[in-house]
Amino acid sequence: MRIIVTAGPTREFMDPVRFISNRSSGKMGYALAGAAAARGHKVLLVSGPCALSAPRKTDIERVVTAEQMLEAVREALPKFDALVMAAAVCDWRPKHKAPQKIKKTAAPRMLELKPAPDILKTVAPLKHGKFFVGFAAETEDIERNARRKLREKRLDLIVANDVSRADSGFDSDTNLATLLDADGGRNRLPLMSKDKLALRIVRWLEKKASGRGAGI
Ligand code: PMT
Repeated sequence: MRIIVTAGPTREFMDPVRFISNRSSGKMGYALAGAAAARGHKVLLVSGPCALSAPRKTDIERVVTAEQMLEAVREALPKFDALVMAAAVCDWRPKHKAPQKIKKTAAPRMLELKPAPDILKTVAPLKHGKFFVGFAAETEDIERNARRKLREKRLDLIVANDVSRADSGFDSDTNLATLLDADGGRNRLPLMSKDKLALRIVRWLEKKASGRGAGI
C-alpha cells in the first residue's frame, strides 16, 4: 500500500517568534510510519516540528502550520491509498500575525483566535475509496466523542486515546487506546507500546485493503 502518515504538533504563530501549539512529541506518528515502512509499504511522513529522525525507508516532508500540513496532504493524496492522521493539528490559530516581534510593552491583553483548517474534513471529498484513519485525543467521554469524530470526519477507523494519563497519549512511549470502526466494531486494547499499537493499525489497514473482512 501507499500510506500517508501525519505526526507531531503544528505551530500557529502570533508573531515571528511566538506561537500556540501542543505537547505532541511525534512518537505515535513516527511509530506508525516506521511500522508501515518495515512491512514494505511506501510511506510519506508529513511531520510537524519534533525532535525525531525519520524512520528508515520513509519519505519525510516537514511542515510547521496546519495550513502547510493540509497542503502537503492534499497534494500527495491522489497518489496514495491511505491516510493516517496521528498529528495533533491545532484547532485554532491567532487571528493576526504581527510582522515583527511584539514588544513587551505592546503585549496584547487578549489573543484573538480563528479556526485553523480541519485537515480531515477538508480532504474528505478526495476520499474516493481510500482508507482514512484518525485519532481522537480525549480526556473524558472518550468513546462517545471518538464516535462523533469518526462520523463527522468520514473515517474508516478511529483510534481513541486517553490523553489524561501520563503513560498514554502525548509524549509517552505507551498508549491506552480503543479502536472504533465505521461498521460499529470496537476493540478496547490494553496499555501497550506505541510501536505495538502502530503495528496493529497497519495490520488493520492491510486487512481492510485486501478485503479480508473488517475485524478489529
Ligand atoms: O505525538 P505523541 O506525543 O506521540 O502523541 C500522540 C497523540 C496523542 C498526538 C496521538 O496519539 C493523537 O491522539 N493524535 C490526534 C490528536 C488530535 O488532534 O486529536 P483530535 O481529537 O483533536 O482530532 C481528531 C482527528 O482530526 C485527528 O486524527 C487529527 O489529526 C485530525 N485533525 C484535528 C484537527 C484539525 N484541525 N485537523 C485534523 O485533521
